[in-house]
Amino acid sequence: MSEISSAISARSRLLQPTAVNSILAEVAELRRQGRRLVSLMRGEPDLPTPAHIVEAACRALRDGRTHYPDNRGEPALREAIAEKLYRENGLTYDPGSEILVTTGATFALWAALTALLNEGEEVLLPEPIYDAYTPVIRLAGGRVRPVRARLGGGRYSLTGEDLEAAWNPAAKLLLVNTPWNPTGTVLTRDELALVAAFAARRNLVVVSDEIYEAFTYDGRVHLSPAALGEEIRERTILINSLSKTYAMTGWRAGYAAGPRAIIDAMYLVLQQSSRGPATFVQDAAVAALRGSRERVEAMRAEYERRRALVVERLDGAGRARLIRPEGGFFALLEVRALGRTSDEIRRRLLEEHGVVVVHGSAYGPAGEGTLRISFAAGGETLEDGLARLREGLEGLAG
Ligand SMILES: Cc1ncc(COP(=O)(O)O)c(C=O)c1O
Repeated sequence: MSEISSAISARSRLLQPTAVNSILAEVAELRRQGRRLVSLMRGEPDLPTPAHIVEAACRALRDGRTHYPDNRGEPALREAIAEKLYRENGLTYDPGSEILVTTGATFALWAALTALLNEGEEVLLPEPIYDAYTPVIRLAGGRVRPVRARLGGGRYSLTGEDLEAAWNPAAKLLLVNTPWNPTGTVLTRDELALVAAFAARRNLVVVSDEIYEAFTYDGRVHLSPAALGEEIRERTILINSLSKTYAMTGWRAGYAAGPRAIIDAMYLVLQQSSRGPATFVQDAAVAALRGSRERVEAMRAEYERRRALVVERLDGAGRARLIRPEGGFFALLEVRALGRTSDEIRRRLLEEHGVVVVHGSAYGPAGEGTLRISFAAGGETLEDGLARLREGLEGLAG
């Protein structure tokens, strides 16, 4: 073997860094040169993990909860998840057989795709969407079939016709993300009913990533597709995590719920790879799920205030138009009127104004013409970042 890099497998060559990681490399280089940058890029809450959750982890460590966990997930955590799904989502799952505890939503997605996809089978993927889905679909042997979302009436949505047009006999899964990163759409009951009817008609499994469920605005409520009826529940893998809801991104605690046969297959994938989050992390997750909702509501209200600030400062700046997010902590800013690609605009904003955002084309061709702005960080960072963005957009608009 002449060069060691030729040892890398073809499968692993299919992987690319996420947009955030690529931009982080550019940011690190500029910071090395002494530039002061403000980042409105990451989906990383700046709020601390609530103290009672941290305390539960410390207590678990002191109590010696440092050995292998139950690979399905500690029974107490699976029970707490089942209670949560019943209480907040109106769903009944058996903690013994229909729930799997995973290392974040990321691992749940990996396990679901690995358990379900045969070589060459397709995943219908709305677009623009979180860019970390495509590489794992490919790694699991699948192919992506984009479903271009429509922007109309100030929001992105999915239509039955677009889903139908994307369908072909190789399609096996439909992946949905509600609230939807990066569009900010919270799928309505009617939209989810379309998804459910389409999945039933075309015999698809629905993978539903609901990681932003706690953060919805203007009185909207999150609805899981699985809650629409028994038929769709039986073909849905619900994926969620504690990362965003409890500001626990670094704890790596997530879960999947679904029909027993699929959860069993995912459990085998997990046994042969991650073996689940640390035991004391699982104890802390029980405290999070069973604890008061007060802190979560306080965080939601804080993100809603930040969203209002983003709308106020950016809508109309340099002919840009803000797509008002209904949920999550990202806003898409339409910058088509500037007549440049989103990546060009992003670079100019970074290099000339020191503000970091993500170009919409990172989320698929349907995201071209937009920038993704995160309001997961607030305070000075948000104020300063929005001021720089406004100035940069106005400058670009001439
Ligand atoms: C849509 C979506 N799903 C999953 C994840 C990752 O979740 P986790 O931290 O639970 O692995 C993210 C993180 O940004 C996300 O935006």
